[in-house]
Amino acid sequence: MLIRTPAPHEPLPSEITPRRVYLNRRTALAGLGLVAASPLALSQAAPGGGKLPKLPGARSAVPGAMVMEKVTSYADATSYNNFYEFGTDKADPAQHAHTLKTRPWTVSIEGECAKPGRFDIEALLKLAPMEERVYRLRCVEGWSMVIPWEGYSLAELLKKAEPTSKAKYVEFTTLADKAQMPGVRSGVLDWPYVEGLRIDEAMHPLALLSFGMYGEVLPNQNGAPLRLVLPWKYGFKSAKSIVKIRFVEKEPMSSWTKAAQQEYGFYSNVNPNVSHPRWSQATERRIGEDGLFAKKRPTLMFNGYEAQVGQLYAGMDLKKFY
Ligand code: MTE
Repeated sequence: MLIRTPAPHEPLPSEITPRRVYLNRRTALAGLGLVAASPLALSQAAPGGGKLPKLPGARSAVPGAMVMEKVTSYADATSYNNFYEFGTDKADPAQHAHTLKTRPWTVSIEGECAKPGRFDIEALLKLAPMEERVYRLRCVEGWSMVIPWEGYSLAELLKKAEPTSKAKYVEFTTLADKAQMPGVRSGVLDWPYVEGLRIDEAMHPLALLSFGMYGEVLPNQNGAPLRLVLPWKYGFKSAKSIVKIRFVEKEPMSSWTKAAQQEYGFYSNVNPNVSHPRWSQATERRIGEDGLFAKKRPTLMFNGYEAQVGQLYAGMDLKKFY
């Protein structure tokens, strides 16, 4: 309500037509038997695109890490994206992110910690055993996907830096380079894209530092070479293409909160009972199930991860801390 700039929830006119055309084409092809009409087996990972280097991960043993639901197709997960550094249309990242250079890449770790430093991406890839986790991702706009990710718990990296007792929060800053990212020339957000977590959220084993998906390295449009995946929070908390991690004492101001405080809170936990000021969050559209007669799914508290993360928010008024 406050801003009229395109926000992650607002379908742009330019987005609507291609999506509808795309869906109609899918429906038509399904009718002809040219696309799989029946779902893949439960929790079976859809094959990757086969163009990127392989990045296998061992099945995760972290409780809640393996959702037993049909996995979204690789084609959908890599062509319907939010990555505003490459444009605000859903198709923009797949089209433009080839200009992103993912090597060399370093992540600096700063702030309230005993061992700050710079980590090279090659060292990060070897820092902990690579796991595969199948997570739901629920976007604040009202759609969701189920994606097999490769990575390890963010805590594995954070603990190497030995955060001090003053490290109450963690701030994540992502790359903002006009030369590589055409969207950064626009004023749609105050760049760089910044996100934040409370330290106990960041240390939760489900908070994933991801380097791959579908058994391959991350495609650029999905946040290469490394990103967060926070399955119990709205998708915009899962910052892509991270370059800096900072331990801080005060709650960081994230880019979307800065853009529209009433609409995007610091916590942004998936919550069907707390509506966005302009629409309900009670249901969602699962990408790939959105044919003409597909029903919306009920959105689950904490996106279905309440058993694992609910304790982090015990006693908090989730309407106030949205
Ligand atoms: N990270 C950066 N740097 N820039 C972005 O625009 N978009 C966020 C999040 N991370 C975004 C970002 C939003 S709104 C969502 S829903 C997810 O990335 C989308 O991730 P996906 O495209 O891999 O599904």
